Amino acid sequence: LLGELQVLDQVDSTNARVLDRMEAGAGHGLVVLAEQQTAGRGRRGRQWVSPFAAGISLSIGWQFQGGVQILEGLSLAVGVALARALERFDVPDVRLKWPNDVWCQGRKLAGVLLELSGDLTDRCGVVVGVGLNVGLAEGAARQIDQPWVDLAAVRPGLGRNSLTAAMLEELLPLLEEYPRIGFAGYREAWSRLDQFSGQEISLYSGPTEWRGRNVGVDESGALLLEVDGEIRRFHGGEVSLRGR
Ligand code: BTN
Repeated sequence: LLGELQVLDQVDSTNARVLDRMEAGAGHGLVVLAEQQTAGRGRRGRQWVSPFAAGISLSIGWQFQGGVQILEGLSLAVGVALARALERFDVPDVRLKWPNDVWCQGRKLAGVLLELSGDLTDRCGVVVGVGLNVGLAEGAARQIDQPWVDLAAVRPGLGRNSLTAAMLEELLPLLEEYPRIGFAGYREAWSRLDQFSGQEISLYSGPTEWRGRNVGVDESGALLLEVDGEIRRFHGGEVSLRGR
C-alpha cells in the first residue's frame, strides 16, 4: 500500500508537499514525514505548531476513483485508526473529539487535516495529514490556544518511530478499504471513543452557538445534537464543552 516514503528535516507543510503531487495526478501512497514544519496547517486556517523533533508530522496521499460522496465520514474514520494505533501501545484514556481530534486524558494529543484535490466527481485525491504532539517545550506550547497534552507525558518511553509505523499500519489499510466499507464500518468504534458522549456541549457553526446534548454521530459522520428536545445534525463546526 505504501508507494513512496519521504522523511524530511524541514518542510513548510507535509500536507502542502503531498498536495502538490496530487494536483499533478500522482502521489497515490506517498507518505511524507518531517522533523519540523515552518508553516504547519491546522483546521479552519489555523497554524499547527511543529518545532524540530517535537512531534510526528505525517501526510499520506491517496487517489480514490469516484465522487466525493465516497469520502463521507473519512476524517472520523481516520481518528479511529489513530486511536487504534495508540491503543496498541496501551496509551491510556484515548478518546476522540468530533470530528477527528485525538484526545488523551482530557486534552488534545493529535489533530487531523484532510485536504482534497481532483475533480471530485470521477476522481478524488485526498491528503490525510496527522500532527501528534510528542514533546512540546513550554515556549512553543504558549502558541496553542486549547488544552493540549503530549506523548512524553502520557506514555513516556514510546518512541516516535514505533508509533509512526503503527499509524501507517492502521491508516493505509483504512484508505484501501474505505470505498468498500465506508463510515458504516467505523461508526460504532467512533461512538465508543467519543470524549463528550451524552454531555452538554456547545457547537459553533459560523456565528451561531448551538447548545445541546451530544447524542452521537449519524451514518455520514454528522454530529447529532439534541436541542430543546429536537435532534439537529451538524456537518461542520467547532465543539466545546459547555462552559469551557
Ligand atoms: C488540527 O487543526 O487539529 C489539524 C492539525 C493537522 C496537522 C498536521 S501536521 C502534518 C500535516 N501537515 C500539515 O501542514 N498539517 C497536518
